[in-house]
Amino acid sequence: MDIEFVRSRFIKHFDGKTGNVYASPGRINLIGEHTDYNGGFVFPGAVDKGVMAEMRANGTEDTVMAYAIDLKDRVDFKLSDPNGPRASWARYIYGIALEMKKLGVPVKGFNIAFAGDVPLGAGMSSSAAMESCFACGLNDIFGENKVSQWDMVLAGQATEHNYCGVNCGIMDQFASVFGKAGCLMRLDCRSREFEYFPFKPDGYRLVLLDSVVKHQLAGSPYNDRRNSCENVVKHIQARHPEGKFETLRDCTWEQLEEVKEEVGAEDYKRAKFVLGEKDRVLAVCDALNEGDYEKVGEMMYKTHEGLSKDYEVSCEELDFLNDIAKENGVTGSRIMGGGFGGCTINLVRNDLYKKFIEDAKKRFNEKYGHEPKVYDVVIGDGSRKIC
Ligand code: GLA
Repeated sequence: MDIEFVRSRFIKHFDGKTGNVYASPGRINLIGEHTDYNGGFVFPGAVDKGVMAEMRANGTEDTVMAYAIDLKDRVDFKLSDPNGPRASWARYIYGIALEMKKLGVPVKGFNIAFAGDVPLGAGMSSSAAMESCFACGLNDIFGENKVSQWDMVLAGQATEHNYCGVNCGIMDQFASVFGKAGCLMRLDCRSREFEYFPFKPDGYRLVLLDSVVKHQLAGSPYNDRRNSCENVVKHIQARHPEGKFETLRDCTWEQLEEVKEEVGAEDYKRAKFVLGEKDRVLAVCDALNEGDYEKVGEMMYKTHEGLSKDYEVSCEELDFLNDIAKENGVTGSRIMGGGFGGCTINLVRNDLYKKFIEDAKKRFNEKYGHEPKVYDVVIGDGSRKIC
């Protein structure tokens, strides 16, 4: 992304003065989908695409003047307005500002212009990129950088919950804040411990195929999935009052079977996927330690199947891309992120890459009238101040 581009718009749309520039990335996730809000493990990495914002205190008590460069949309609002702005992009600014205030940052009025190159609705978490970028800026401008990285992660998540209607977990904001070039991260979402995993799969590469079916999590069945998981936990807890069951992480296969009838077929399927995914992430960790990428790929296909049949967050286009990957001998392929559209992530041997991409473009185009977009994954750094 281009600093001069963002700066020129910031100068043009406000009072001609410059501010500070901050950037935060979107993310990929190798494996561990819908496990974050179930207290499980995830395996994300930041990407080289993200959001860049120029920001500056404007001397007012609480007036925010915001310009979304890509949308050419300007919205001004007051932090004291209990409803906040209506434009969905501006709600991320409003929400994160109020969440940072809750953390003790004395946020006052500011000007902000931002642009991004994370594809919107592709499941690469453009929203977390915005939240963490704005949090990083507000922390620097008003908070003497006192807010910790973890608190910024949680402020981003709270923004989704409280102002955007998505009861998401912490994976996306975590990856955006903590990302490190060349490394994936294994995060235990219950203890919040994490490790950086240098990811250099000799002979393989990661590529995303974007179905361009727009995924939208707000007000979507995403929250229903979370409710299903919580319902199963409640039933297991009721049967085992002696134990402490906070999330599906604490539940075993046997306990799930015990409540199968009472929770109903749908919630049972959801929980079945999550328990399977918990095991798969750990299997992938072992496989990565042994450099066994074929095993990693096998787990990715299993995840896809579970996301499609049990968690039911796939769509026809994503299943089709998964089939094409399989038919081309691609090592691993699956839906990435929340689902309901967006991308597949593919682990593909270098020698198969060209043929796979050509075949996917051709066949997808024949069926849906447009090619999928192709993004080669480059694992980049997390939130930072640029200047
Ligand atoms: C979205 C959410 C994350 C996570 C994924 C699914 O990206 O924001 O918290 O639940 O879906 O793994």
